[in-house]
Amino acid sequence: MHYITPRFPAARPRRLRQTPLLRALVRETRLDKSQLVQPLFVRPGTGIRKPILSMPGVAQFSPDTLLEEARTLADLGVPAVLLFGIPDKKDAKASGAYARNGIVQQAVKRLKKEVPRLLVMTDVCLCEYMSHGHCGIVSNPGSEARILNDSSLKLLAKTAVSHAEAGADLVAPSDMMDGRVNAIRQALDTSGFDEIPIMSYAAKFASAFYGPFREAAESTPRFGDRRSYQMDGANGNEALREVAQDIAEGADIILVKPGVAYLDILWRVKSEFGLPTAAYSVSAEYSMVKSAAEKGWVDEKAVALEMLQSFRRAGADFIITYWAKDACAWLG
Ligand code: PBG
Repeated sequence: MHYITPRFPAARPRRLRQTPLLRALVRETRLDKSQLVQPLFVRPGTGIRKPILSMPGVAQFSPDTLLEEARTLADLGVPAVLLFGIPDKKDAKASGAYARNGIVQQAVKRLKKEVPRLLVMTDVCLCEYMSHGHCGIVSNPGSEARILNDSSLKLLAKTAVSHAEAGADLVAPSDMMDGRVNAIRQALDTSGFDEIPIMSYAAKFASAFYGPFREAAESTPRFGDRRSYQMDGANGNEALREVAQDIAEGADIILVKPGVAYLDILWRVKSEFGLPTAAYSVSAEYSMVKSAAEKGWVDEKAVALEMLQSFRRAGADFIITYWAKDACAWLG
């Protein structure tokens, strides 16, 4: 921080008169509709809008209702969505994740055909498709369970390619296996998708803030937890090393997650690397404000916009948020 030494130390500090117009001229960061990405959950079926109890206002959609929602979002000015799939069947090799006609693949095809103005990002992970709910292949399920990092990479790469084949504009690996950005980059390149960018959840911390999401995505692990592959929330330097590694492997956009509790990480990542950087304001950040607002304890709109502003101030180029739809309406 550089402060100019006052030439007249005795001078009384001045309070400048700021009109709203002047305040707007000197505002350092802005929050714009074009910076918000709406996560969406899609499951097989028709006519479904199944509310997520722990996330008021968020629902699981079937492909047909997803299209209606996507049109509404696009009309409001939401530029992009991030898709999560909930398959009919789960198994031990996450077959639904990379099935040619899997739920995300179907949804992407329809979205790109019918609402082409929306940018479609897909979450690349195995947890929603695995019977045990972990993000990779597991040996010895149960208390002796271990994640098989390297064999999981093949499935993740297949998943990313299948999303690209369906028409996804960008793939976003969230699994946290080591080396997955490289595996996905190579697989995309050799399959003719060398122009599809990768947004890497490079700094993704093992967090209690994901609780409500696991209801939404039906991906709660059956045993153990995700601490062997997600990061320790105590470690900021390690986060920078993870980001450097993902950049070296070919990540185009870096994601920091969760949001509010990790603003320092966001700031450090943006300052250190200067790459396009995004914040993911995760499920509990949304649910906590929603529940407090329902009780009349906080003003939802004011709190939500203040949180979104804080991500911009901390260096995020854009924000993945369950408020994208509402915020676009609020921002007008
Ligand atoms: C994993 C994934 C998770 C989230 C996004 N991708 C959950 C987890 O790691 O347990 C959490 C998002 C949120 O809480 O909003 N596929």
